[in-house]
Amino acid sequence: MPRHVAFIMDGNGRWAKKRGLSRNVGHKKGGDTFREIARYAKDCGIEYVTFFAFSTENWKRPKEEVDALMKLFSEYLDEAESYAKEKTRLIFLGDKSIFPREMSDKMTDLEKKSRQFSDFTLSLAVNYGGKDDILQAAKRAAKLCFDRDISPSEIDEKFFAGLLYTYAVPDVDLLIRPGGERRLSNFLLWQCAYAELYFSDILWPDFSKKDFDEAVNYYRGRNRRFGNVEG
Ligand code: FPP
Repeated sequence: MPRHVAFIMDGNGRWAKKRGLSRNVGHKKGGDTFREIARYAKDCGIEYVTFFAFSTENWKRPKEEVDALMKLFSEYLDEAESYAKEKTRLIFLGDKSIFPREMSDKMTDLEKKSRQFSDFTLSLAVNYGGKDDILQAAKRAAKLCFDRDISPSEIDEKFFAGLLYTYAVPDVDLLIRPGGERRLSNFLLWQCAYAELYFSDILWPDFSKKDFDEAVNYYRGRNRRFGNVEG
């Protein structure tokens, strides 16, 4: 089984359009799928799941859509208290400082309270960009060198990975992108270096447990060589 599965939840807007509904209804349905698939992955014994909920570029969307996404996200933060009770570690990837204080405090609080759980970790990428992640880590590494806390030669892969937003989770084994596009869209660029990529035309709100099983089966059929030769 993959240890870490990441999801790009794409296709909410098209799902809604096909039904003559507003894009925001698509996002709401996408939120339901997120809850269902996260729970199912946990039941399947996956240790780490990461979902791309909002990118650093998504602020460019119409205000009405951004507001609707923030509302969904805020509702989830209220409900997420129960995930702590369910022994789920919650992590929020991305620059939290852009959110209203109440929201960012809630994220930090949920992270702190759930830090003790290690069987299942759910990461939600919000205001996240893969390039931004690498840049903020590089800036912190530069500062550590400037302050003479470390020397540049100490910056190896392990050290650098420890400065990324994902410091507490291993690299991605399987990346699942429904919605028909075949690209990473600035998601977990460093962490997907050796990920198996699974693309599907199904729109995220329709993504089912069966589709998840299919993606995992695809992964199990892959021969992962990590740059080495056939074993
Ligand atoms: C991309 O699909 C999706 C997003 C930018 C938002 C994803 C957010 C959710 C699924 C809701 C998350 C909710 C919680 C509770 C975390 P798109 O709208 O770009 O789809 P399109 O390509 O069909 O327009």
